[in-house]
Amino acid sequence: MASLLTVRDLAVHYATAAGPVRAVDGASFDVPAGSIVGLVGESGCGKSTLGRALMGVMPRSARIAAGSAVFEGQDLVTLPDKARKELLWRRLSFVPQTAMNALDPVQRVGAQLMEVLTERGGLSRAAAASRAEALFTLVGLDPKRLRDWPHQFSGGMRQRASIALALALDPALMIADEPVTALDVIVQRQVLDVMKELQARLGLAMILVTHDVAVVAYACDRVVVMYAGRVVESGPVRAVLEAPLHPYTMGLMNAFPDLERAGGELVPIEGSPPSLLNPPKGCRFAARCPFAVARCAEDPPLVEDAPDHHAACWRSAEAAALRPQAARAETWAGVVA
Ligand SMILES: Nc1ncnc2c1ncn2[C@@H]1O[C@H](COP(=O)(O)OP(=O)(O)OP(=O)(O)O)[C@@H](O)[C@H]1O
Ligand code: SF4
Ligand SMILES: [Mg+2]
Repeated sequence: MASLLTVRDLAVHYATAAGPVRAVDGASFDVPAGSIVGLVGESGCGKSTLGRALMGVMPRSARIAAGSAVFEGQDLVTLPDKARKELLWRRLSFVPQTAMNALDPVQRVGAQLMEVLTERGGLSRAAAASRAEALFTLVGLDPKRLRDWPHQFSGGMRQRASIALALALDPALMIADEPVTALDVIVQRQVLDVMKELQARLGLAMILVTHDVAVVAYACDRVVVMYAGRVVESGPVRAVLEAPLHPYTMGLMNAFPDLERAGGELVPIEGSPPSLLNPPKGCRFAARCPFAVARCAEDPPLVEDAPDHHAACWRSAEAAALRPQAARAETWAGVVA
């Protein structure tokens, strides 16, 4: 399938008094048209920074230090502001990490939708009113509730309303940052089902940012695994989750209950990711990896180890032999000194 978004070697740094924080430091992946891509990794690995950089909504201290992100033939990194403004919301939209941030607490939800539709979309008030109703129905909300204030909505309803806002101008790609994290499991499934239906009905592509492998397994076609600012593995969701090539992905699989084998023993990956102020020179996962060898002192490149399945690990050719070991809790115990 044609790539809608092609990200290559993207680096995003935050300027701080202690030096640059390399929050994203060489990320490469593709988003095929019409697919849901899960962007997964531990807290602080750079997921939100990457999503915000693609949207061009970054704090002043952040800058794109290198790389490209070609969306529908235009590089988002070098795109002039005016051209970017044309794209945002119309072709590329964003659901921020806290749904409340997407909604103005002092404006009725319907008025916010109307504003996007009339001011950004140029619709007449009558056309915008019927589009707002259709959008609410699309995300499973009762159009009567367009008159409500955000605080009158439950968390799941706010999440649906912020998805409706992001969909208002019929984008080709929606980046949703942790859209279901704050919700209980039943509501999580409802919101994920809405997203899957939107993909099927509208051909919408999505980047679904999450730290939860179960969410990826349930909703995504593809997965991009980030660790310490880097993409360490990517590919079709079944290939990556059923036959991971990178030890970090193997560890993530043990650390989260998968929806099908809920109740299995959870094994945490000991330790924490390295500082992104001075990331280690070799493999960034080495200090926590039970399979590290001398060669891991060098930085492993992201390579296509199997068709459409990329990993950045010197030992990925041995992955089939490492996986059974990685499934055992004792393999991970005592790795971190
Ligand atoms: N404004 C900022 N200034 C300096 N460093 C920042 C800033 N925002 C984020 N960072 C750092 O950049 C790194 C990546 O942060 P980011 O928010 O992208 O991670 P994340 O993967 O989205 O985490 P989470 O799962 O907790 O949302 C972290 O080390 C974080 O401390
Ligand atoms: S390169 Fe080495 S340290 Fe890094 S994940 Fe692979 S085996 Fe582990
Ligand atoms: Mg985040």
